[in-house]
Order: sequence, then structure tokens, then C-alpha cells
Amino acid sequence: MDEKTGDRGRGTGDGAPSRPGKTGNGTAGQAVEPRAFVTVPEVMAAKGVRRLVMVTATDEPSSRLADAAGVDLVLVGDSLAMAALGRADTLSVTMDEMVHHTRAAAAGARRALLIADMPFGSYQASVADAVRNACRLVGEGGARAVKLEGHRPGEVSAIRAAGVPVVAHLGLTPQSVHAFGGYRVQGREAEQALVLLGQARELEAAGAFLLVLEAIPPALGRAITHAVGIPTIGIGAGPACDGQVLVAADLLGLSAGPLPRFVRRYAELDTVIRAAVEAFAADVRAGAYPADEECYPDPPGLEAVVARCLAEG
Ligand code: KIV
Repeated sequence: MDEKTGDRGRGTGDGAPSRPGKTGNGTAGQAVEPRAFVTVPEVMAAKGVRRLVMVTATDEPSSRLADAAGVDLVLVGDSLAMAALGRADTLSVTMDEMVHHTRAAAAGARRALLIADMPFGSYQASVADAVRNACRLVGEGGARAVKLEGHRPGEVSAIRAAGVPVVAHLGLTPQSVHAFGGYRVQGREAEQALVLLGQARELEAAGAFLLVLEAIPPALGRAITHAVGIPTIGIGAGPACDGQVLVAADLLGLSAGPLPRFVRRYAELDTVIRAAVEAFAADVRAGAYPADEECYPDPPGLEAVVARCLAEG
């Protein structure tokens, strides 16, 4: 901390980042740490070699911490509607909101491959819409791949042809919650399971490089994983998938309400955060914050000058 300016080392005061390589696009005189990103070919090559780890992020801190933890893939999922925006489902998230959050998360993803979800309504009306909106998430948001839900081989191949890597998503695709009649496990009947298996193959043929499988029986997760040449990432799809994903708010213990069966909570951050804010509030109310060492030192003579001014009115 600079005692004169109060600078916390996060910027120069004129908006320029002071951390070397923060943007990866260094300007003259600024040191740049090269970014060694996880690439799409590396992700594809992981199939059968090592398990992939994906977590969601909604902003710079969550993306930076996931990246620092060494995950392969950071997903700016439309689940941020619930995780960050207090909405009841994913359906109301807009393209502008997804771009905004993706841009923040991109600032934190120094190594992991950053994927952005295409929100409801951004790809359903036309293939042209799908390509335009995928390009926005990459161009404006800084994503390096996009994800879209459902069996949409036409959209996948058109986005791919525009140069944007695509992640497909099958099973319980939350944007179709009303069509499913609720958040229900998919692929339980043999006929539906075979349809999903066929769709997975078609999405691979259309050019998807990764496939998220959500809320399907483990046997179907295993069958699809064996049937396709691209890696599968499971969320409630059993242990045989090539990788796993959880929503960060769920795994960190920040989400309220009943959680899906597949969620494992690795921390209870809601308790930690609440206790910290309660302690701060108690200190403020008791006059125990700030202490002397948390104040900027008074310049010599200032107290006397101020006192004289007050006395003179
Ligand atoms: O939006 C999201 O977080 C997702 C994951 C559950 C895969 O799509």
C-alpha cells in the first residue's frame, strides 16, 4: 500500500493495470507474463488419458481462483442466473449479461480454457443468430469456446465453421425445463437413452469438441463416453465420463435451497462469509475498527493546523 496515494497495488490510478501481464496484451514499457492457455486440441487429447476438471465462474475472482486451483476448463454457465443474479431459473439471462460476466471471468482465466454458455433465445431462432451471438461471446466477452444446449448439429457446425470451438450439452438441459416438465433425470427409458446416444454421435460429427452430460443414469453416461471420440464432462452423469463439472456456488457452499443429488459441497463459504461480515459489523459498532495501524499517518503539524482552523471558526 502506498501511504501517500492509498494505492492497493491494483492499478496506477489512471485505470492502467499495474500487475504485470494482467491483460496479456502489454503496452510499451509494461512487463508481460505470457499466457500458456489450455488449448482445444489439448482438451480433446485428454480423452482416455486423464480426467478433465471444469468449474463454473461468474466473475474475475471466481475465475481467477478456479484457474489458480489448476482446473482445465472454466465455464461461464448460464447457471449464473441463479448463482449470481438471484433468478429462479436460467431462462431470463440475456446475451448482454452473458457477455458482461464472460468478460469479467476472462480477466481471471490465465491458463484454463474459458467457455461461455449461449443463453436461452440466443441460438434457437436461426443459425445466423447462433453464429452472431457465439462471435459476440468470443469477440466482446473473451471466451475461447461456447456451449449450447440440446441436439443442434446445424448450429454447432455453423459456429464451428465461423472458427469458434463448440461444446455440446445433452441430458437435463435446463433451458428446456418447461418442455421436460421440471428438472428431471433424462434417458431413463431405453428408447430415450438410445436417442441421446445418437444425438451425441451427431453432435460430435457436427464438430463439437466436448460434450457436457447432465443428469442421466451412470450407465448411459458410460455408454455415450465410449461411443464418442470427444471427451464427455459429467454433471450427475456418473463416474465414467472423461471429466466432471460442478457449479462453483454449489461446491463452495454458497448456494441456498435444495441441491441436486450430484452436488458435493467442498466448503461452507456462506458460513465463513457471514461470520466475517458479522465480525466487521461488531468491530465497527464497538469502535474497534479502524485501529491506528489501519489509518494513514497524520502528516506532522496537520492536527494543529486543523485545530486552529476549527477554533477560528
Ligand atoms: O450453466 C451451467 O452452469 C452449466 C453446467 C451445469 C454444465 O451448464
